Amino acid sequence: MKIFVTRKIPQKGLDILSKEFEVEVFEGDEPISKEELIKRAKDCDGLLSLLSDPIDEEVIDQTGIKAIANYAVGYDNIAVATATKRKIPVTNTPGVLTEATADLTFALILAVSRRIVEADKYLRSGKWTGWGPILLLGGDFANKTIGIIGLGRIGTAVARRAKGFGMNILYYGREPKTEIENELGAKWVPFDQLIEESDYITLHVPYTSETHHLLGITEFEKMKSSAYLINTARGKVVNEEELISALANNLIAGAGLDVFYNEPEINPELIKLDNVVAVPHIGSASLETRTNMSVMVAEDLIAALKGEKPTNIVNPEIYQ
Ligand code: DGY
Repeated sequence: MKIFVTRKIPQKGLDILSKEFEVEVFEGDEPISKEELIKRAKDCDGLLSLLSDPIDEEVIDQTGIKAIANYAVGYDNIAVATATKRKIPVTNTPGVLTEATADLTFALILAVSRRIVEADKYLRSGKWTGWGPILLLGGDFANKTIGIIGLGRIGTAVARRAKGFGMNILYYGREPKTEIENELGAKWVPFDQLIEESDYITLHVPYTSETHHLLGITEFEKMKSSAYLINTARGKVVNEEELISALANNLIAGAGLDVFYNEPEINPELIKLDNVVAVPHIGSASLETRTNMSVMVAEDLIAALKGEKPTNIVNPEIYQ
């Protein structure tokens, strides 16, 4: 059987795949175009895709692939309903990237509220004339309130870090999670209460029709003017135009962003703002994590193509 991999991933996963199947890797340094993807995957049995590859009905139907392993925990880039109809297993990479993504979330919280990027730029520009009592003042974390929207794996790992910083933890999700509440002293609150009371709001929900524009001007107007928004989930969970306007008009204090509305295009107005720290979707980008993700996709793709149920199956109903 033959696998098409849409971009070079860590070698460990490719080696595992190569032991079982013929493997062809797209050699480009940029996301593959849809036309090229269809052309290259046409005679392939398995597809190893990235979160930046839209695997829609056209791709599925024109390639004849029998299994899709997505090199990400999020799979909003894949037409899962179509894959399920065609009995094509789809897999993702949950768990292995939890700690790395929670670390990046906290890095953004720290960077934006202690103005690390601004301070670095200031120092490099040669403007620093000496220690200043009111130079580049930021915010404290201890006793501040963090509001976590989505207390799944990554949200919970963020809550653990927040506890270490002595923060009060609020969260919103479909239902209260008593065990985590007991362990971390987190408190479930209604959505609006979280928006109004949090000093830091951090998003950890998948992107679906329900979470599209979950945060927009209505929420920014309700937030504290001293509050920060952190997004390491998906760009479209936030109405980005309205976020830019909220940041420019000081409705909120700042934002730490790993994900954007039309990645990799960045709204130029967003990165003009000093109260924004923006990084290029690097939530899971540690060497260990990306290597573990490569092993996970390889093992799942092998299982799926051998007719076994993969461990990290997104559409288990096809096996019923
Ligand atoms: C994922 O895997 O979905 C994340 O966005 C990676 O950072």
